[in-house]
Amino acid sequence: MIKSQTIEEIKSRMDIYEVVSDFVALKKSGSSYKALSPFTNEKTPSFMVSPAKGIFKCFSTGKGGDAISFLMEVDGLSYIEALKYLAQKYAITIEEDEVDPNYQAEQSLRESLFITLNFAKDHFIENLWETDEGKSIGLSYFKERGFSEETIKRFDLGYSLDQWQGLIDAAKGAGHKDEFLEQTGLKIVKEDKAYDRFRGRVVFPIHNITGKVIAFGARTLKSNEKGPKYINSPETELYTKSKILYGIFQAKNEIRNQENCYLVEGYTDVVSLSQAGITNVVASSGTSLTDDQIKLIQRYTKNVTVLFDGDKAGIKASMRGIDMMLTGGLNVKAVPFPEGEDPDSYSKQLGGEAFKEYLDENAQDFIAFKTGIFLKEGGDDPIKKAESIREIVQSISLIPDPIQRTVYIQECSRLLHVDEETLISETNKLLLKNSKEKWEAPSPEIPQEAYEPEKTETKISRDEIIKIQERESIRMLINYGSELVEGLEEGEISLADYFMSESEDISFETPIYNKILEIFKENLANGQISTIQQFLDHDDLSVKQAAVDLSTERYEISTNWSEKFQIHVAHESQTLKNSTYTNILRLKFRIIQKMIAENMENIKSASEEEQINKFLSIQGDLKSMEMTIAKTLGNVTVK
Ligand code: CTP
Ligand code: MN
Repeated sequence: MIKSQTIEEIKSRMDIYEVVSDFVALKKSGSSYKALSPFTNEKTPSFMVSPAKGIFKCFSTGKGGDAISFLMEVDGLSYIEALKYLAQKYAITIEEDEVDPNYQAEQSLRESLFITLNFAKDHFIENLWETDEGKSIGLSYFKERGFSEETIKRFDLGYSLDQWQGLIDAAKGAGHKDEFLEQTGLKIVKEDKAYDRFRGRVVFPIHNITGKVIAFGARTLKSNEKGPKYINSPETELYTKSKILYGIFQAKNEIRNQENCYLVEGYTDVVSLSQAGITNVVASSGTSLTDDQIKLIQRYTKNVTVLFDGDKAGIKASMRGIDMMLTGGLNVKAVPFPEGEDPDSYSKQLGGEAFKEYLDENAQDFIAFKTGIFLKEGGDDPIKKAESIREIVQSISLIPDPIQRTVYIQECSRLLHVDEETLISETNKLLLKNSKEKWEAPSPEIPQEAYEPEKTETKISRDEIIKIQERESIRMLINYGSELVEGLEEGEISLADYFMSESEDISFETPIYNKILEIFKENLANGQISTIQQFLDHDDLSVKQAAVDLSTERYEISTNWSEKFQIHVAHESQTLKNSTYTNILRLKFRIIQKMIAENMENIKSASEEEQINKFLSIQGDLKSMEMTIAKTLGNVTVK
């Protein structure tokens, strides 16, 4: 058990900005910081850090809390693990209360697995540096490949002895339970025989972002062996292959500092590049890139440079990876290598400095990279050329940012000698195809709060929500219309003026509220702010009745309403402006959604290209307005 004094010390020293910065590239925004959320795949930042309050808040997922909760969320740490991480970060010595003999048994399974994996890592390291076999076979192999001792240590590289139970015996001797060896994939059990998974191989530990070992990759040293070149840990409780990148722990700070991430294919590419002084490098480890891996990179930078083999398979893999990263909104470059070379071999051939120069000089954006490859393959063949244009246009259409798309279209036109108009219309066709499905579903990036008045347990129909919003707006107007609120620029203005200036020519769906709004507007145009009394005295019976209802104080109706709709009732007089503002935003949000639906109909029924393009661009604008309002609304409602 960690002593409570230690916990207190950790809590007093931890700085939310410093802690989050290790995982996310934060940008200053007023008194706080913002970033793309590490918890979701988003293109507009909705993740905020407030150093003053010591908290973070992710408006896309609703997650929030202090530095400890951040670590628990971002890296799946337990509370204790998060505390230990912070203690290490701030060089705080952890004092523990007397250790219970059953301590290990009581620890969570995850922690036990971490401990066993860490033991295995240390064991492999010891084998490499301290045993004759390790030194003569493993260490000399690494040195032959040009890895310095510093590099070998930086990556915790090790060696597994050529024995059936080398690790199993050592682990047993050190008191590690069998079940943990099995659950971490270190031990294989077959027909009541148990043996080490890794034997007679050099070992590459795979670290999670916080630097804990979660798996291993192990390379054979025999060129004639029948078995596979690499044996990897199986997926376990702690290790999901598709969610991790090899080298991310060692590279993450450099990726952020240099605002670029080199992406390679293999373990040895990462180690070699690091040896050559290029430390912002990670590997997808031979599998095709996944969305989770892209998301992981995105926490640190928007810029990726792909360094894959110069062979066919390598090029194909890089093409696929590039398209996925473009879709994720990343800026992608690639460096071509001569056939038969990979980053590892080529960095060795050129040497660190020359290799760095090669990368700088040969990094091309994906258009130039793809064009180069297609031209090499197809030469002047017009059919091949048409094919490559289609390929490139397809990639361009994946880019979410329209301005970037335009820039790339221009470049493509220049490189392939195709006129821009043709490229634009081809791109738009693809965009239309992609978007039709996408736009029909609500965007997952919009916080749920935006769709609903407040946290709702009971489902309320859209019509009911609208009615509530409109009722609230009207009620505020006729009860508090002449109250002064702080305007945006002009100092104090009446709430009525504020409402009208913010909502312009809004109209309501509920007939009676719209009727009252119209009367209110008419009077306001004549310089008069209508009061509740005027509506109570109105000739129209329906207006009169509505006014009676609207004159009810909020707290009087609150029991009924809040029970039914779970509406949180705030202190109205203090939050007058805020609630008016929120009301207006909600109304606007609704109107935008309506316009989106209408425009969608236009897109569907349009047949001419020019028309389609026009509606598409309108749709883009509307969507981004929707997003902005939703985000603001998320901020407002959560507060
Ligand atoms: N890989 C694997 N299993 C294999 C082959 C490859 O898991 N049987 C993964 C490894 O992560 C490897 C990556 O794919 O690092 C790239 O494969 P390859 O280029 O063959 O390996 P290198 O890392 O380049 O190893 P070396 O340079 O020692 O040949
Ligand atoms: Mn290689």
